[in-house]
Amino acid sequence: MSDPNAPQFWQDSYRNGRIAWDLGHPTPVFARLAKSGDYLPGNMIALGAGRGYDARLFAQHGFEVLAVDFASDAVVAMHQLNDPQHPVQVLQADMFKLPESMNGRFDYLLEYVCFCAIDPTRRSEFAALAARLLKPGGLYISLAFPIGRRPGGPPFVVQPDAVIELFAEHGFTLHHREFPPDSIPSRQKIEELLILRRTGEET
Ligand SMILES: C[S@@+](CC[C@H](N)C(=O)[O-])C[C@H]1O[C@@H](n2cnc3c(N)ncnc32)[C@H](O)[C@@H]1O
Repeated sequence: MSDPNAPQFWQDSYRNGRIAWDLGHPTPVFARLAKSGDYLPGNMIALGAGRGYDARLFAQHGFEVLAVDFASDAVVAMHQLNDPQHPVQVLQADMFKLPESMNGRFDYLLEYVCFCAIDPTRRSEFAALAARLLKPGGLYISLAFPIGRRPGGPPFVVQPDAVIELFAEHGFTLHHREFPPDSIPSRQKIEELLILRRTGEET
């Protein structure tokens, strides 16, 4: 099974320990954002959340977080690692099939090593998903990784300028971008923080 659209592909990766992307802790970049006070706690959805390190981080800073993943071992890990003082709501689902009742419900959408995990032909669908899930004014927070050149995937390369252009077609404007000084050493300069604001009406 080598189809990244299928939950079994990811489930097999978790089951076989082929999870080189898994940091075992939240990225320091999101840790800085969460404690900066620049982003007030609100409703957040974390897509392709994996074992949920980043989702739990934001929950610990007062955000109401819904973490979505379709691989059962990732979901089991999120339940096991959940912090009862600051629980994350965990949902096992294909993000592309999230119900319309979730439209416009979130102030923030968090993405790390998820955009690069999906089939590149679905990137426009992903941007449309972000547009429908976020409230007008809501923020898409992405640590775009991996930048550069590499054949195939996942992870499939991400070009931040192309992401900004694609999301603009779905009603987003650039709020902030940076090469984070606090990326983990092996990801310095190959990941870029992109924060895009969803403007306008439903797309
Ligand atoms: C490379 S892992 C990254 C996990 C996590 N964000 C991290 O940084 O550790 C990508 C995750 O996205 C999930 N995923 C991929 N496509 C998905 C989909 N259509 N719906 C829900 N989850 C998906 C996979 O199961 C996997 O856990």
